[in-house]
Amino acid sequence: MSANLRIDIDRLMRRLRRLGEVGARPEGGVSRLALSDADKQGRDLVVGWMRELGLAVAIDAIGNIVAVRPGRGGGAPVMTGSHIDTVRAGGLYDGNLGVLGGLEVVETLNAAGIETARPLAVAVFTNEEGARFAPDMLGSLVYVGGLGLDEALATTAIDGARLGEELTRIGYAGEATPGWLLPHAFVELHIEQGPVLEADGITIGAVENLQGISWQEVAIAGTANHAGTTPMRLRHDAGYAAAWVATRVREIAQALPEQVGTVGVIKLEPELINVIAAKATFTVDLRNTDEERLKRAERMLQQALDEIARSEGVTVSSRVLARFEPVRFDAGIAKLIEDTAAGLGYSSRRMTSGAGHDAQMLARVCPTAMIFTPSVAGISHNPREHTEPADLEAGANVLLHTMLELANG
Ligand code: HGY
Ligand code: MN
Ligand code: MN
Repeated sequence: MSANLRIDIDRLMRRLRRLGEVGARPEGGVSRLALSDADKQGRDLVVGWMRELGLAVAIDAIGNIVAVRPGRGGGAPVMTGSHIDTVRAGGLYDGNLGVLGGLEVVETLNAAGIETARPLAVAVFTNEEGARFAPDMLGSLVYVGGLGLDEALATTAIDGARLGEELTRIGYAGEATPGWLLPHAFVELHIEQGPVLEADGITIGAVENLQGISWQEVAIAGTANHAGTTPMRLRHDAGYAAAWVATRVREIAQALPEQVGTVGVIKLEPELINVIAAKATFTVDLRNTDEERLKRAERMLQQALDEIARSEGVTVSSRVLARFEPVRFDAGIAKLIEDTAAGLGYSSRRMTSGAGHDAQMLARVCPTAMIFTPSVAGISHNPREHTEPADLEAGANVLLHTMLELANG
């Protein structure tokens, strides 16, 4: 009976589009920064759907939402889920597909009157993006004990707000202890956010590993001076120094295999056309699948910072915003995803995740892997983010049957 079970793609699309209305931007895309009013509205909408589906909903002290569907027997649940917070101009699917795909699995089983041996759970983790509060994957990191609750609550946002106060303000400072429900296994459905599946013409990614992440904020202090009267040889220009480091980040990424490097934020002070910048604050995002190469990239960045401090006569300091080593997912679950895709008639391939995901944190406490669906033109973190409904349907069907196998196998 359950072998022929399939999700309802129209129902999933309705939920994805409805959630996408929360924080919708007039110019397109979605903005639901973590713990913002829009994030609260999105959380309220999803919790409402969870309750309509008969799930027992628990909110923990860092705002993670875990909704449980009972099984015939007890035992640890098979958990799925992701995040619904977005970057400042995000798309419909990043994170949302993993949460709403989980609800679609539940509704499909409810409609078919199917009870699983193990309980199932669908999770919404707080602040996965790390766009407003660093580090990213903060909620799931606290959930698995990788970051202390008090330290997480004390985190300050890029806009100066305190995480714990925002959590209370939006009404999601819950009673449950983070990590209260240890999953038997965790499977996350997510769009690839890159070009690989589309380029290969493959429908499903069985994600077997995820690259390491190094986030730093760099502050450069120079000397404000007159843009017209100050001879070039006398300048200590924080703006030039920041721009020089940004070009070095690109050179480092090009020098090391499988290395990527991004300077996504640059702020200058006093930010005036005729004043040599006194201060520059910028971020550096370095990633690599190999920990030794990622460390090499970090050393090369530090050498660049030391070099510009000397040559431009500026003071340079940096602080770590996030640092996660590469993660290998559970080979058995990756294989199960591959076999499940084949059994459903979908093409699949093993692959690495370039992006960070909550699954990389759950992998610390239980067997974990991910299911990817293609991203059109590899675009994400952009209002143009798109995945074809047929591919979303394939991903959710693979999630359904992977969870069934793990819950009944
Ligand atoms: O940064 C990331 O990889 C994720 O989108 N938080
Ligand atoms: Mn995501
Ligand atoms: Mn993202």
